[in-house]
Amino acid sequence: MEIVILREHREAAELAAAAIVDVVRSKEHPVLGLATGSSPVPVYRALTRHHREEGVSFAGCSAFTLDEYVALPADHPASYRSVIRSDFTAHIDIDDSRVHAPDGTAEDLPAAAAAYEAAIETAGGVDIQLLGIGSDGHVGFNEPTSSLCSRTRIKTLTEQTRRDNARFFDDDLTAVPTHCLTQGLGTILQARHLILLAQGGGKAEAVRQLVEGPVSARWPATALQWHPHVSVLVDEDAAQGLELADYYRHAWENKPTWQGL
Ligand code: F6R
Repeated sequence: MEIVILREHREAAELAAAAIVDVVRSKEHPVLGLATGSSPVPVYRALTRHHREEGVSFAGCSAFTLDEYVALPADHPASYRSVIRSDFTAHIDIDDSRVHAPDGTAEDLPAAAAAYEAAIETAGGVDIQLLGIGSDGHVGFNEPTSSLCSRTRIKTLTEQTRRDNARFFDDDLTAVPTHCLTQGLGTILQARHLILLAQGGGKAEAVRQLVEGPVSARWPATALQWHPHVSVLVDEDAAQGLELADYYRHAWENKPTWQGL
């Protein structure tokens, strides 16, 4: 696991975007794993800029969101299908039909979850996956005590996650769905490169557990310690709990330039 501590979240976004552009340029049919929420928004802005100013084309890509709320209509502005379109995919040259999210409105949710797993596999697996982290240590919506080898399935959101996300529902907690379909930790661990972004002191404990804590379903993000290629990009506030912060800074400063993320 590589930990990069940066002064500004914008710098993290530029690094993540550059890694994604490398994948997009090097493969004929790249598969992008997209997170929603606040953390990846600057990455999507940077990618949109690469598209507009340098002609980076996403036309051959397919994309998969991590999760979706249950029973929220797909055209609701806070559905992750809508959010990913307005934050990112409407601004680049990817066809809507190539952007996938779990179907949280399906009558048969287990079947929808299985179909999502199958769609990711058929696309060839995710090449590069963006991740945020919840203040309770979730990735995707794998809340505490999620199985470390879980696959896409229905989960109940914690009250903390619902409170954290009420800002996307006009601060109306009652409007925040209670359930979601989320890629499992086992699903996420199959992506070839994971890039996790975190900013702000509210994420410091989750980041500390992710990087330095014991692997435990209590802090689901710790499952990432099993992955061979993880980049954790954090700002100073999110990094404030890291015991070995000086070592991570030293390693980053001395990293061979050819290595990339
Ligand atoms: C979003 C997702 C969540 C968020 C996490 C952090 O698709 O799966 O795990 O990444 O809740 O959200 P922000 O970035 O809004 O703090």
